[in-house]
Order: sequence, then structure tokens, then C-alpha cells
Amino acid sequence: MSLISTLQWSSTITNPAAKQRVAQQIAQKVKDGDVLGVGSGSTVYMALFAIAERIKAEGLNILAIPTSLEITMFCAKLGIPLTTLFEHTPHWLFDGADEVDPNNWLIKGRGGAMFKEKLLIRSSPLNYIIVDDSKLVLKLGTNFPVPVEVYPQALLHVEEELKKVGAIDIKLRPAKGKDGPIVTENNNLILDCYFDDINDSLEQDIKAITGVIESGLFIGYDLQILTAENN
Ligand code: 5RP
Repeated sequence: MSLISTLQWSSTITNPAAKQRVAQQIAQKVKDGDVLGVGSGSTVYMALFAIAERIKAEGLNILAIPTSLEITMFCAKLGIPLTTLFEHTPHWLFDGADEVDPNNWLIKGRGGAMFKEKLLIRSSPLNYIIVDDSKLVLKLGTNFPVPVEVYPQALLHVEEELKKVGAIDIKLRPAKGKDGPIVTENNNLILDCYFDDINDSLEQDIKAITGVIESGLFIGYDLQILTAENN
């Protein structure tokens, strides 16, 4: 048995039944020949299983462009062929989210992969966000802070500048199960930032700070929100 075949999703999956329903819906959208952008998180992971079933049953030829190492490895485990942004542009993409507000603005990045997630969403002409109802909020920031990926040497500068654009509390995200900060796949750090008010210029204000790689705010993107309940 190869090491890839032994891979399992290690964290608890919240609302698994609702995620499973939306995962099945996204799998039904896949067509032969599609190049898919594949986001991160447990809902995406469930959708990959449903897509792998269709590949097996119907012999679909698809290619996946993943947004994280974790999802890359799950694609490999499930036999879903991979490609990169060097070789292909996605026809469409699916990804999860941590919060979705009534304007379809998002907070993403609990998994720390928001730079690649945003790059893929920007590269794809059609983007489905797959969430269970617990992700729908009236106001962004209700349950999650805004994650900001930061070049390590810029940490102190970025912290000061984030306060100037309204951050009322900032935490350096700790590593899971060991001392020290979490380090992203791009070798950067993550600041989890709390704001009283998330307005339509905040994503750009954060992005303009030297040393910020990307934030988990998605404001004003053209997104199709798919929940188990709205379909
Ligand atoms: C990772 C993300 C995920 O899409 C988000 O955390 C959703 O996760 P899940 O589907 O496990 O609830 O933005 O950076």
C-alpha cells in the first residue's frame, strides 16, 4: 500500500451531511474535458470523492489545479489527474469559505491557503463557492477573523499598518500541535485580524501594505454560492 493511499482527512468535519449534499451537487456539474480549479477544506475534499466516483463510473477525463499541497495529495490518492497554471487555465473552480455575507463577500483562509485560492479564483471565469448554511452570516467577521499572509521580516511593519486600516486585534496564528507560528506553503506567516467594520475598500487597503502577500477577504468577486439548501 502506498503512503498516498493511506492519507485520511484528520480534522473533524463539521456539518458533514450538508457538506455531502453540496459536494454531490458540484460533482454533477463536472463534464468530460473540464479543467477544474480545486480549492481547499473539508467540503472540497468531499466533492473530490464524489468527482472521483464519476471518473471511475463514467471514464471522464478531467484535470485538476489544486490550491494546496493537502488537496494535491488527495487528488493523487483519488486518481484525479493534476495540472498547473503554467499549462492550463481552469474552465471553472469550486472552493469552500469560512463566511459568506448577503453581498457574496467572503472570508476564507482558515486553512492558510488564501493566496493560491485567490489566484485560482482570479484565473477562473466561473467560480462556485460550496458551503453549508452555518457559513452564511449577516456581517463578515461574525465567527472568523480576517487572515492575512505576511512575509516574515515584514511582520512588525504589517502589524502597525493593519492597525491603521482598522484592525482592533491581531493574533499571530500558532502552529498546530507544536511551538511557534504556523508557516504557510509559501514560507510566510499568518496574522488573524479582527475588525469592527469590514467595508468595501478593506481588501485593497490590506493588499496595499508592503509585506502583505494576500488576505482572506474576497470583496466584490463574481461568485456562485451553492449551499445544500439553495439547490
Ligand atoms: C481554506 C478555506 C476553506 O475553503 C474553508 O476553511 C472552508 O473549509 P470547510 O469546507 O472545511 O468548512 O478557505 O483556506
